[in-house]
Amino acid sequence: SVRQALEQAVVAALEADGVIADTRTFCQTKDVEHEELVAVLNSMVRRDLVRLEALDAEAFYELTEEGQRYAEHGTPEHLLGAALRAAPASLPAVSDLPALLQQVSSSHGVADAEVAAADTWRQRATIGMQQGIKQGVFRLDKSQKPPRLVLAVAADDGWQRIHKLCAALRALQDRHADQETTDAATWETALRRGLVIKRLRKAYRARPGARFAEARVQQLTDLTRDMLLDHSWESVHFKPFNFAAPGTAPMEGGRLHPLLKVCEQFRRIFLEMGFTEMDRSHYVESSFWNFDALFQPQQHPARDAHDTFFLSEPASCVRLGDGDVREREYVERVRQVHERGGYGSLGYRYTWSEAEARTCILRTHTTAVSARMLYRIAQEQRERAPGSAFTPRRLFSIDRVFRNETLDATHLAEFHQVEGLVAAPHLSLADLKGIIAQFFRRIGMPRLRFKPAHNPYTEPSMEIFAFHPELNKWVEIGNSGIFRPEMLLPMQLPPEVRVIAWGLSVERPTMILYGMRNIRDLFGHRVDLNTIRHHPVCRIGWE
Ligand code: PHE
Repeated sequence: SVRQALEQAVVAALEADGVIADTRTFCQTKDVEHEELVAVLNSMVRRDLVRLEALDAEAFYELTEEGQRYAEHGTPEHLLGAALRAAPASLPAVSDLPALLQQVSSSHGVADAEVAAADTWRQRATIGMQQGIKQGVFRLDKSQKPPRLVLAVAADDGWQRIHKLCAALRALQDRHADQETTDAATWETALRRGLVIKRLRKAYRARPGARFAEARVQQLTDLTRDMLLDHSWESVHFKPFNFAAPGTAPMEGGRLHPLLKVCEQFRRIFLEMGFTEMDRSHYVESSFWNFDALFQPQQHPARDAHDTFFLSEPASCVRLGDGDVREREYVERVRQVHERGGYGSLGYRYTWSEAEARTCILRTHTTAVSARMLYRIAQEQRERAPGSAFTPRRLFSIDRVFRNETLDATHLAEFHQVEGLVAAPHLSLADLKGIIAQFFRRIGMPRLRFKPAHNPYTEPSMEIFAFHPELNKWVEIGNSGIFRPEMLLPMQLPPEVRVIAWGLSVERPTMILYGMRNIRDLFGHRVDLNTIRHHPVCRIGWE
Protein backbone atom coordinates (compact mmCIF):
# COMPACT_ATOMS: atom_id res chain seq x y z
CA SER A 1 0.00 0.00 0.00
CA VAL A 2 0.94 3.67 -0.26
CA ARG A 3 1.59 3.89 3.49
CA GLN A 4 3.81 0.82 3.52
CA ALA A 5 5.77 2.11 0.60
CA LEU A 6 6.15 5.44 2.33
CA GLU A 7 7.26 3.75 5.54
CA GLN A 8 9.89 1.88 3.57
CA ALA A 9 11.06 5.05 1.92
CA VAL A 10 11.46 6.58 5.38
CA VAL A 11 13.42 3.55 6.59
CA ALA A 12 15.62 3.59 3.50
CA ALA A 13 16.33 7.30 3.91
CA LEU A 14 17.17 6.88 7.58
CA GLU A 15 19.41 3.94 6.79
CA ALA A 16 21.22 5.86 4.13
CA ASP A 17 21.56 9.26 5.83
CA GLY A 18 20.74 8.65 9.49
CA VAL A 19 18.24 11.51 9.44
CA ILE A 20 15.42 13.08 7.49
CA ALA A 21 16.35 16.68 8.05
CA ASP A 22 13.06 18.23 7.02
CA THR A 23 9.85 16.39 6.29
CA ARG A 24 8.80 19.11 3.84
CA THR A 25 11.75 18.63 1.52
CA PHE A 26 11.42 14.89 1.89
CA CYS A 27 7.82 15.18 0.67
CA GLN A 28 8.86 17.17 -2.34
CA THR A 29 11.49 14.64 -3.41
CA LYS A 30 9.11 11.72 -2.88
CA ASP A 31 6.10 13.55 -4.32
CA VAL A 32 3.77 12.71 -1.43
CA GLU A 33 1.40 14.83 0.66
CA HIS A 34 2.94 16.16 3.82
CA GLU A 35 -0.05 15.05 5.88
CA GLU A 36 0.32 11.55 4.55
CA LEU A 37 3.96 11.48 5.55
CA VAL A 38 3.23 12.89 8.99
CA ALA A 39 0.56 10.22 9.52
CA VAL A 40 3.09 7.53 8.59
CA LEU A 41 5.74 9.07 10.82
CA ASN A 42 3.32 9.29 13.74
CA SER A 43 2.48 5.64 13.39
CA MET A 44 6.21 4.89 13.35
CA VAL A 45 6.71 7.02 16.44
CA ARG A 46 4.14 4.90 18.25
CA ARG A 47 6.18 1.82 17.42
CA ASP A 48 9.44 3.49 18.52
CA LEU A 49 10.81 3.21 15.04
CA VAL A 50 11.46 6.92 14.67
CA ARG A 51 11.84 9.99 16.83
CA LEU A 52 10.44 13.32 15.64
CA GLU A 53 11.69 16.75 16.43
CA ALA A 54 9.39 19.64 15.56
CA LEU A 55 10.75 22.33 13.30
CA ASP A 56 9.31 25.84 12.98
CA ALA A 57 5.73 25.64 11.78
CA GLU A 58 4.83 27.10 8.45
CA ALA A 59 1.53 28.85 7.77
CA PHE A 60 -0.47 27.88 4.74
CA TYR A 61 -3.99 28.47 3.47
CA GLU A 62 -6.49 25.91 2.49
CA LEU A 63 -9.99 25.95 0.98
CA THR A 64 -12.76 24.94 3.31
CA GLU A 65 -15.35 22.48 2.08
CA GLU A 66 -17.56 25.38 1.06
CA GLY A 67 -14.65 27.16 -0.58
CA GLN A 68 -13.90 24.04 -2.52
CA ARG A 69 -17.44 23.76 -3.82
CA TYR A 70 -17.33 27.40 -4.92
CA ALA A 71 -13.96 26.89 -6.54
CA GLU A 72 -15.36 24.12 -8.67
CA HIS A 73 -18.71 25.56 -9.70
CA GLY A 74 -18.87 29.19 -8.68
CA THR A 75 -20.34 30.98 -5.67
CA PRO A 76 -24.15 30.89 -5.09
CA GLU A 77 -24.44 34.55 -6.12
CA HIS A 78 -22.67 33.67 -9.35
CA LEU A 79 -25.03 30.72 -9.94
CA LEU A 80 -28.13 32.77 -9.12
CA GLY A 81 -26.96 35.48 -11.49
CA ALA A 82 -26.66 32.87 -14.23
CA ALA A 83 -30.20 31.65 -13.50
CA LEU A 84 -31.69 35.17 -13.60
CA ARG A 85 -29.97 35.97 -16.86
CA ALA A 86 -31.17 32.72 -18.41
CA ALA A 87 -34.85 33.49 -17.75
CA PRO A 88 -35.21 37.28 -17.44
CA ALA A 89 -38.99 37.22 -17.87
CA SER A 90 -39.91 35.11 -14.85
CA LEU A 91 -38.74 37.08 -11.82
CA PRO A 92 -38.44 34.71 -8.86
CA ALA A 93 -39.88 35.38 -5.41
CA VAL A 94 -37.54 34.80 -2.46
CA SER A 95 -39.31 31.52 -1.76
CA ASP A 96 -38.54 30.34 -5.33
CA LEU A 97 -34.80 30.87 -4.92
CA PRO A 98 -33.82 27.51 -3.31
CA ALA A 99 -35.41 25.53 -6.14
CA LEU A 100 -33.96 27.86 -8.74
CA LEU A 101 -30.47 27.54 -7.27
CA GLN A 102 -30.78 23.78 -7.11
CA GLN A 103 -31.77 23.69 -10.76
CA VAL A 104 -28.94 25.88 -11.99
CA SER A 105 -26.46 24.08 -9.74
CA SER A 106 -27.51 20.83 -11.29
CA SER A 107 -26.88 22.19 -14.76
CA HIS A 108 -23.47 23.42 -13.56
CA GLY A 109 -22.56 19.95 -12.36
CA VAL A 110 -22.55 20.60 -8.60
CA ALA A 111 -22.03 17.18 -7.06
CA ASP A 112 -24.88 17.19 -4.52
CA ALA A 113 -27.27 19.17 -6.71
CA GLU A 114 -29.89 16.39 -6.77
CA VAL A 115 -29.52 15.01 -3.28
CA ALA A 116 -28.80 17.86 -0.84
CA ALA A 117 -31.59 18.56 1.65
CA ALA A 118 -34.11 21.39 1.18
CA ASP A 119 -32.56 23.14 4.18
CA THR A 120 -29.23 23.18 2.46
CA TRP A 121 -30.68 24.82 -0.63
CA ARG A 122 -32.48 27.35 1.49
CA GLN A 123 -29.21 28.25 3.19
CA ARG A 124 -27.30 28.46 -0.06
CA ALA A 125 -30.01 30.55 -1.71
CA THR A 126 -29.98 32.96 1.21
CA ILE A 127 -26.23 33.31 0.99
CA GLY A 128 -26.41 33.88 -2.76
CA MET A 129 -29.14 36.46 -2.50
CA GLN A 130 -27.53 38.38 0.36
CA GLN A 131 -24.09 38.39 -1.20
CA GLY A 132 -25.50 39.47 -4.57
CA ILE A 133 -27.43 42.33 -2.96
CA LYS A 134 -24.33 43.29 -1.00
CA GLN A 135 -22.25 43.43 -4.14
CA GLY A 136 -25.03 45.43 -5.80
CA VAL A 137 -25.81 42.96 -8.58
CA PHE A 138 -29.27 41.97 -7.31
CA ARG A 139 -32.11 44.05 -5.98
CA LEU A 140 -35.33 43.07 -4.24
CA ASP A 141 -38.27 44.64 -6.02
CA LYS A 142 -40.57 45.20 -3.09
CA SER A 143 -43.22 46.92 -5.20
CA GLN A 144 -44.42 43.45 -6.07
CA LYS A 145 -46.10 41.06 -3.67
CA PRO A 146 -44.30 38.89 -2.73
CA PRO A 147 -41.09 40.81 -3.50
CA ARG A 148 -39.12 39.64 -6.53
CA LEU A 149 -35.36 39.29 -7.03
CA VAL A 150 -34.17 41.25 -10.05
CA LEU A 151 -30.80 41.90 -11.72
CA ALA A 152 -29.51 45.37 -10.88
CA VAL A 153 -28.55 47.63 -13.76
CA ALA A 154 -25.06 49.05 -14.20
CA ALA A 155 -23.65 46.48 -11.76
CA ASP A 156 -20.37 45.73 -13.57
CA ASP A 157 -18.17 46.42 -10.55
CA GLY A 158 -20.14 43.99 -8.45
CA TRP A 159 -19.94 41.23 -11.05
CA GLN A 160 -16.25 41.81 -11.37
CA ARG A 161 -15.74 41.30 -7.62
CA ILE A 162 -17.81 38.11 -7.79
CA HIS A 163 -15.72 36.77 -10.68
CA LYS A 164 -12.52 37.69 -8.92
CA LEU A 165 -13.52 35.72 -5.88
CA CYS A 166 -14.42 32.67 -7.94
CA ALA A 167 -11.13 32.94 -9.84
CA ALA A 168 -9.12 33.30 -6.62
CA LEU A 169 -10.75 30.21 -5.12
CA ARG A 170 -10.04 28.26 -8.30
CA ALA A 171 -6.43 29.38 -8.31
CA LEU A 172 -6.01 28.39 -4.69
CA GLN A 173 -7.45 24.99 -5.45
CA ASP A 174 -4.91 24.52 -8.23
CA ARG A 175 -2.22 25.78 -5.82
CA HIS A 176 -1.43 28.57 -8.22
CA ALA A 177 -2.27 31.25 -5.73
CA ASP A 178 -2.04 32.27 -2.12
CA GLN A 179 -2.27 35.38 0.03
CA GLU A 180 0.64 36.99 -1.79
CA THR A 181 -0.74 36.67 -5.28
CA THR A 182 -4.38 37.46 -4.56
CA ASP A 183 -5.58 41.05 -4.12
CA ALA A 184 -6.20 42.04 -0.54
CA ALA A 185 -9.96 42.70 -0.75
CA THR A 186 -10.74 39.39 -2.43
CA TRP A 187 -8.50 37.52 0.03
CA GLU A 188 -10.19 39.26 2.94
CA THR A 189 -13.65 38.34 1.62
CA ALA A 190 -12.62 34.71 1.20
CA LEU A 191 -11.30 34.54 4.75
CA ARG A 192 -14.28 36.39 6.25
CA ARG A 193 -16.78 34.17 4.48
CA GLY A 194 -14.95 31.12 5.73
CA LEU A 195 -14.03 29.87 2.27
CA VAL A 196 -10.32 29.82 3.04
CA ILE A 197 -8.72 29.07 6.37
CA LYS A 198 -5.22 29.47 7.66
CA ARG A 199 -3.45 26.35 8.79
CA LEU A 200 -0.10 25.68 10.29
CA ARG A 201 2.05 23.03 8.75
CA LYS A 202 4.28 21.48 11.34
CA ALA A 203 7.45 20.16 9.87
CA TYR A 204 9.67 17.65 11.57
CA ARG A 205 13.13 16.24 11.63
CA ALA A 206 13.06 12.44 11.86
CA ARG A 207 15.72 10.18 13.33
CA PRO A 208 15.85 6.45 13.94
CA GLY A 209 13.99 5.43 17.10
CA ALA A 210 15.00 2.89 19.72
CA ARG A 211 13.56 -0.02 17.78
CA PHE A 212 14.52 1.23 14.33
CA ALA A 213 16.42 -1.98 13.60
CA GLU A 214 13.10 -3.87 13.57
CA ALA A 215 11.82 -1.72 10.75
CA ARG A 216 14.68 -2.49 8.48
CA VAL A 217 13.58 -4.64 5.65
CA GLN A 218 15.81 -7.53 4.90
CA GLN A 219 17.56 -6.91 1.63
CA LEU A 220 18.26 -10.01 -0.37
CA THR A 221 21.20 -10.42 -2.65
CA ASP A 222 20.25 -13.61 -4.47
CA LEU A 223 17.34 -14.50 -6.67
CA THR A 224 16.51 -18.16 -6.18
CA ARG A 225 14.52 -20.69 -8.13
CA ASP A 226 12.00 -20.92 -5.26
CA MET A 227 11.37 -17.19 -5.38
CA LEU A 228 10.57 -17.49 -9.05
CA LEU A 229 8.22 -20.42 -8.44
CA ASP A 230 6.24 -18.89 -5.56
CA HIS A 231 6.40 -15.36 -7.00
CA SER A 232 7.91 -14.04 -3.78
CA TRP A 233 10.52 -12.26 -5.90
CA GLU A 234 7.84 -9.72 -6.65
CA SER A 235 7.54 -8.58 -3.03
CA VAL A 236 10.95 -9.20 -1.44
CA HIS A 237 13.50 -6.44 -1.35
CA PHE A 238 16.69 -6.84 -3.27
CA LYS A 239 19.76 -5.03 -2.34
CA PRO A 240 20.54 -2.42 -4.98
CA PHE A 241 23.61 -2.99 -7.10
CA ASN A 242 26.64 -1.15 -5.90
CA PHE A 243 28.37 -0.25 -9.09
CA ALA A 244 31.10 1.56 -7.21
CA ALA A 245 32.21 -1.52 -5.30
CA PRO A 246 35.83 -2.40 -6.04
CA GLY A 247 35.07 -6.08 -6.72
CA THR A 248 36.92 -9.11 -5.51
CA ALA A 249 38.55 -10.49 -8.64
CA PRO A 250 41.80 -8.96 -9.80
CA MET A 251 41.34 -6.60 -12.67
CA GLU A 252 41.99 -8.24 -16.00
CA GLY A 253 42.68 -5.92 -18.86
CA GLY A 254 43.57 -7.02 -22.34
CA ARG A 255 47.08 -8.25 -22.83
CA LEU A 256 49.35 -8.10 -25.78
CA HIS A 257 50.13 -11.33 -27.53
CA PRO A 258 53.85 -12.14 -27.41
CA LEU A 259 54.01 -11.78 -31.18
CA LEU A 260 52.65 -8.26 -30.91
CA LYS A 261 55.21 -7.42 -28.25
CA VAL A 262 58.03 -8.73 -30.40
CA CYS A 263 56.66 -6.97 -33.49
CA GLU A 264 56.58 -3.74 -31.53
CA GLN A 265 60.20 -4.24 -30.46
CA PHE A 266 61.24 -4.82 -34.06
CA ARG A 267 59.34 -1.72 -35.07
CA ARG A 268 61.14 0.35 -32.45
CA ILE A 269 64.52 -0.96 -33.47
CA PHE A 270 63.84 -0.05 -37.08
CA LEU A 271 62.59 3.39 -36.11
CA GLU A 272 65.66 3.96 -33.95
CA MET A 273 67.78 3.03 -36.94
CA GLY A 274 66.02 5.64 -39.07
CA PHE A 275 63.81 3.28 -41.07
CA THR A 276 60.28 4.12 -42.27
CA GLU A 277 57.41 1.65 -42.21
CA MET A 278 55.93 0.68 -45.57
CA ASP A 279 52.25 0.34 -46.40
CA ARG A 280 51.66 -3.36 -46.02
CA SER A 281 47.91 -3.62 -46.44
CA HIS A 282 47.70 -6.31 -49.13
CA TYR A 283 47.20 -9.78 -47.68
CA VAL A 284 45.74 -10.69 -51.02
CA GLU A 285 48.30 -9.98 -53.66
CA SER A 286 48.66 -10.62 -57.36
CA SER A 287 51.21 -13.21 -58.41
CA PHE A 288 52.74 -10.34 -60.32
CA TRP A 289 53.87 -8.36 -57.28
CA ASN A 290 54.59 -11.43 -55.21
CA PHE A 291 56.65 -13.25 -57.86
CA ASP A 292 56.92 -11.81 -61.37
CA ALA A 293 58.11 -8.38 -60.34
CA LEU A 294 60.72 -10.19 -58.28
CA PHE A 295 62.05 -12.00 -61.36
CA GLN A 296 60.74 -15.30 -60.07
CA PRO A 297 59.97 -17.47 -63.11
CA GLN A 298 56.42 -18.69 -63.54
CA GLN A 299 57.57 -22.32 -63.39
CA HIS A 300 59.27 -21.81 -60.05
CA PRO A 301 58.12 -24.49 -57.57
CA ALA A 302 57.22 -21.85 -54.95
CA ARG A 303 54.46 -20.71 -57.32
CA ASP A 304 52.83 -24.09 -57.08
CA ALA A 305 49.59 -24.62 -55.18
CA HIS A 306 51.59 -26.85 -52.86
CA ASP A 307 53.41 -23.84 -51.52
CA THR A 308 51.07 -20.96 -52.17
CA PHE A 309 47.41 -20.30 -51.37
CA PHE A 310 45.46 -19.32 -54.47
CA LEU A 311 42.19 -17.47 -54.21
CA SER A 312 39.16 -18.94 -55.90
CA GLU A 313 37.13 -15.75 -55.62
CA PRO A 314 38.36 -13.50 -57.16
CA ALA A 315 40.74 -15.86 -58.86
CA SER A 316 42.23 -13.19 -61.02
CA CYS A 317 43.31 -9.71 -60.26
CA VAL A 318 41.70 -6.99 -62.35
CA ARG A 319 44.18 -4.19 -61.86
CA LEU A 320 47.53 -4.76 -63.47
CA GLY A 321 48.62 -1.89 -65.63
CA ASP A 322 45.03 -1.31 -66.72
CA GLY A 323 44.43 2.36 -67.36
CA ASP A 324 47.91 3.20 -66.16
CA VAL A 325 50.23 3.59 -69.13
CA ARG A 326 53.40 3.55 -67.09
CA GLU A 327 52.46 0.45 -65.17
CA ARG A 328 51.46 -1.24 -68.44
CA GLU A 329 54.89 -0.45 -69.85
CA TYR A 330 56.45 -1.81 -66.68
CA VAL A 331 54.45 -5.04 -66.98
CA GLU A 332 55.74 -5.34 -70.56
CA ARG A 333 59.35 -4.82 -69.39
CA VAL A 334 58.82 -7.55 -66.78
CA ARG A 335 57.53 -9.83 -69.54
CA GLN A 336 60.61 -9.07 -71.61
CA VAL A 337 63.07 -9.64 -68.81
CA HIS A 338 61.46 -13.00 -68.09
CA GLU A 339 61.23 -14.03 -71.74
CA ARG A 340 64.33 -12.57 -73.32
CA GLY A 341 66.33 -10.87 -70.60
CA GLY A 342 67.98 -7.50 -70.97
CA TYR A 343 69.98 -5.30 -68.66
CA GLY A 344 72.89 -7.68 -69.21
CA SER A 345 70.75 -10.74 -68.41
CA LEU A 346 69.72 -13.68 -70.60
CA GLY A 347 66.30 -13.99 -69.00
CA TYR A 348 64.53 -17.29 -68.45
CA ARG A 349 63.60 -17.88 -72.10
CA TYR A 350 59.99 -19.04 -71.73
CA THR A 351 56.69 -17.56 -72.75
CA TRP A 352 55.49 -15.34 -69.92
CA SER A 353 51.79 -15.44 -69.24
CA GLU A 354 50.01 -12.34 -68.08
CA ALA A 355 47.05 -14.44 -66.96
CA GLU A 356 49.39 -16.30 -64.64
CA ALA A 357 50.70 -13.00 -63.30
CA ARG A 358 47.15 -11.89 -62.58
CA THR A 359 46.24 -14.85 -60.38
CA CYS A 360 45.28 -13.80 -56.88
CA ILE A 361 47.20 -15.34 -54.02
CA LEU A 362 47.78 -14.74 -50.35
CA ARG A 363 51.16 -13.07 -50.30
CA THR A 364 53.91 -15.52 -49.45
CA HIS A 365 56.44 -12.96 -48.28
CA THR A 366 56.63 -9.28 -47.40
CA THR A 367 59.07 -8.82 -50.26
CA ALA A 368 55.89 -8.23 -52.29
CA VAL A 369 55.42 -5.12 -50.14
CA SER A 370 58.99 -4.08 -50.87
CA ALA A 371 58.50 -4.62 -54.61
CA ARG A 372 55.45 -2.38 -54.75
CA MET A 373 57.29 0.25 -52.77
CA LEU A 374 60.42 0.16 -54.93
CA TYR A 375 58.30 0.55 -58.04
CA ARG A 376 56.67 3.58 -56.48
CA ILE A 377 60.03 5.05 -55.52
CA ALA A 378 61.24 4.58 -59.11
CA GLN A 379 58.15 6.42 -60.37
CA GLU A 380 58.70 9.26 -57.91
CA GLN A 381 62.29 9.54 -59.06
CA ARG A 382 61.19 9.67 -62.71
CA GLU A 383 58.80 12.50 -61.90
CA ARG A 384 61.57 14.64 -60.52
CA ALA A 385 63.71 16.92 -62.68
CA PRO A 386 66.14 14.93 -64.89
CA GLY A 387 69.48 14.47 -63.17
CA SER A 388 68.02 14.93 -59.65
CA ALA A 389 69.99 13.00 -57.07
CA PHE A 390 68.30 9.87 -55.77
CA THR A 391 67.12 10.17 -52.18
CA PRO A 392 68.31 7.09 -50.25
CA ARG A 393 65.55 5.19 -48.44
CA ARG A 394 65.54 3.00 -45.36
CA LEU A 395 62.30 1.05 -45.24
CA PHE A 396 60.80 -1.79 -43.28
CA SER A 397 57.63 -3.82 -42.96
CA ILE A 398 56.35 -6.24 -40.36
CA ASP A 399 53.26 -8.22 -41.21
CA ARG A 400 51.56 -11.49 -41.87
CA VAL A 401 52.34 -13.82 -44.77
CA PHE A 402 50.85 -17.14 -45.84
CA ARG A 403 52.32 -20.39 -47.06
CA ASN A 404 50.67 -23.68 -47.82
CA GLU A 405 52.98 -25.61 -45.51
CA THR A 406 52.59 -28.96 -43.84
CA LEU A 407 51.85 -27.92 -40.28
CA ASP A 408 54.27 -29.13 -37.64
CA ALA A 409 55.94 -27.93 -34.45
CA THR A 410 57.79 -25.17 -36.23
CA HIS A 411 55.57 -24.40 -39.26
CA LEU A 412 52.21 -22.76 -39.60
CA ALA A 413 50.29 -21.75 -42.71
CA GLU A 414 50.48 -18.14 -41.65
CA PHE A 415 53.23 -16.33 -39.90
CA HIS A 416 54.83 -12.93 -39.69
CA GLN A 417 57.78 -11.50 -41.49
CA VAL A 418 60.07 -8.64 -40.75
CA GLU A 419 61.78 -7.11 -43.72
CA GLY A 420 64.23 -4.28 -43.94
CA LEU A 421 65.72 -2.67 -47.01
CA VAL A 422 68.03 0.15 -47.88
CA ALA A 423 68.02 1.74 -51.33
CA ALA A 424 70.96 4.01 -52.17
CA PRO A 425 73.54 4.39 -54.92
CA HIS A 426 76.50 2.02 -54.92
CA LEU A 427 75.65 -0.07 -51.86
CA SER A 428 77.70 -3.22 -51.48
CA LEU A 429 77.52 -6.57 -49.77
CA ALA A 430 79.59 -5.03 -46.96
CA ASP A 431 76.81 -2.52 -46.35
CA LEU A 432 74.32 -5.37 -46.18
CA LYS A 433 76.41 -7.34 -43.70
CA GLY A 434 77.01 -4.20 -41.68
CA ILE A 435 73.38 -3.22 -41.35
CA ILE A 436 72.32 -6.79 -40.62
CA ALA A 437 74.96 -6.96 -37.87
CA GLN A 438 73.65 -3.71 -36.37
CA PHE A 439 70.07 -4.89 -36.54
CA PHE A 440 70.69 -8.30 -34.99
CA ARG A 441 72.90 -6.86 -32.28
CA ARG A 442 69.94 -4.77 -31.23
CA ILE A 443 67.73 -7.82 -30.94
CA GLY A 444 70.32 -9.53 -28.77
CA MET A 445 72.07 -11.64 -31.37
CA PRO A 446 75.59 -10.28 -31.68
CA ARG A 447 77.21 -13.37 -33.17
CA LEU A 448 76.26 -13.89 -36.81
CA ARG A 449 77.34 -16.04 -39.69
CA PHE A 450 76.38 -15.76 -43.33
CA LYS A 451 75.97 -18.62 -45.72
CA PRO A 452 75.68 -18.21 -49.50
CA ALA A 453 72.18 -19.01 -50.66
CA HIS A 454 69.85 -18.55 -53.60
CA ASN A 455 66.80 -16.36 -54.06
CA PRO A 456 65.38 -15.65 -57.50
CA TYR A 457 65.37 -11.92 -56.72
CA THR A 458 68.69 -11.37 -54.95
CA GLU A 459 72.26 -11.84 -56.02
CA PRO A 460 74.26 -12.44 -53.99
CA SER A 461 72.01 -13.99 -51.36
CA MET A 462 72.94 -14.95 -47.83
CA GLU A 463 71.25 -16.94 -45.16
CA ILE A 464 71.78 -15.46 -41.72
CA PHE A 465 72.71 -17.66 -38.75
CA ALA A 466 72.88 -16.48 -35.16
CA PHE A 467 74.59 -18.19 -32.29
CA HIS A 468 72.10 -19.23 -29.62
CA PRO A 469 73.97 -19.32 -26.31
CA GLU A 470 71.38 -21.42 -24.47
CA LEU A 471 71.02 -23.99 -27.22
CA ASN A 472 74.77 -23.61 -27.75
CA LYS A 473 74.41 -23.80 -31.49
CA TRP A 474 74.00 -21.74 -34.66
CA VAL A 475 70.38 -21.31 -35.73
CA GLU A 476 69.16 -20.06 -39.08
CA ILE A 477 67.43 -16.78 -38.37
CA GLY A 478 66.99 -14.91 -41.65
CA ASN A 479 67.63 -14.47 -45.31
CA SER A 480 69.10 -11.56 -47.22
CA GLY A 481 70.59 -10.30 -50.44
CA ILE A 482 71.04 -7.54 -52.97
CA PHE A 483 68.07 -7.19 -55.30
CA ARG A 484 68.87 -8.24 -58.85
CA PRO A 485 69.09 -5.75 -61.73
CA GLU A 486 66.41 -7.88 -63.49
CA MET A 487 64.08 -6.77 -60.71
CA LEU A 488 65.12 -3.14 -60.25
CA LEU A 489 65.93 -1.96 -63.78
CA PRO A 490 62.50 -2.78 -65.31
CA MET A 491 61.10 -0.54 -62.55
CA GLN A 492 63.45 2.11 -63.96
CA LEU A 493 65.27 2.85 -60.76
CA PRO A 494 68.48 4.76 -61.56
CA PRO A 495 71.08 2.14 -62.56
CA GLU A 496 73.52 3.09 -59.80
CA VAL A 497 70.91 2.49 -57.08
CA ARG A 498 71.40 -0.76 -55.18
CA VAL A 499 68.83 -2.21 -52.84
CA ILE A 500 70.04 -4.38 -50.00
CA ALA A 501 67.46 -6.29 -48.01
CA TRP A 502 66.96 -8.90 -45.35
CA GLY A 503 64.01 -10.72 -43.93
CA LEU A 504 63.17 -12.95 -41.01
CA SER A 505 60.14 -14.43 -39.36
CA VAL A 506 58.76 -12.98 -36.14
CA GLU A 507 57.83 -16.40 -34.82
CA ARG A 508 61.33 -17.89 -34.74
CA PRO A 509 62.88 -15.22 -32.51
CA THR A 510 59.69 -15.02 -30.42
CA MET A 511 59.85 -18.74 -29.70
CA ILE A 512 63.52 -18.44 -28.83
CA LEU A 513 62.92 -15.40 -26.64
CA TYR A 514 59.99 -16.93 -24.76
CA GLY A 515 61.45 -20.43 -24.59
CA MET A 516 58.67 -22.10 -26.58
CA ARG A 517 59.15 -25.41 -28.33
CA ASN A 518 55.95 -25.63 -30.34
CA ILE A 519 54.74 -22.85 -32.60
CA ARG A 520 51.17 -23.92 -31.88
CA ASP A 521 51.63 -22.70 -28.32
CA LEU A 522 52.27 -19.30 -29.81
CA PHE A 523 49.68 -18.95 -32.55
CA GLY A 524 46.30 -20.45 -33.28
CA HIS A 525 43.49 -22.10 -31.34
CA ARG A 526 45.75 -24.09 -29.01
CA VAL A 527 47.25 -21.00 -27.41
CA ASP A 528 46.71 -20.93 -23.65
CA LEU A 529 45.24 -17.54 -22.81
CA ASN A 530 46.52 -17.75 -19.26
CA THR A 531 50.06 -18.14 -20.44
CA ILE A 532 49.63 -15.24 -22.80
CA ARG A 533 48.34 -13.16 -19.88
CA HIS A 534 51.39 -13.82 -17.81
CA HIS A 535 54.11 -13.67 -20.43
CA PRO A 536 56.71 -11.13 -19.50
CA VAL A 537 57.24 -8.10 -21.63
CA CYS A 538 59.32 -8.69 -24.69
CA ARG A 539 62.93 -9.32 -23.81
CA ILE A 540 64.52 -8.44 -27.08
CA GLY A 541 67.99 -7.10 -26.52
CA TRP A 542 68.90 -9.24 -23.55
CA GLU A 543 72.38 -10.51 -23.79
N1 PHE B 1 61.55 -12.90 -48.91
C1 PHE B 1 62.52 -13.76 -48.28
C2 PHE B 1 61.82 -14.89 -47.55
O1 PHE B 1 60.63 -14.96 -47.61
C3 PHE B 1 63.39 -13.03 -47.33
C4 PHE B 1 64.27 -12.06 -48.05
C5 PHE B 1 63.94 -10.73 -47.94
C6 PHE B 1 65.36 -12.41 -48.79
C7 PHE B 1 64.70 -9.79 -48.57
C8 PHE B 1 66.17 -11.53 -49.41
C9 PHE B 1 65.84 -10.19 -49.30
O2 PHE B 1 62.42 -15.71 -46.94
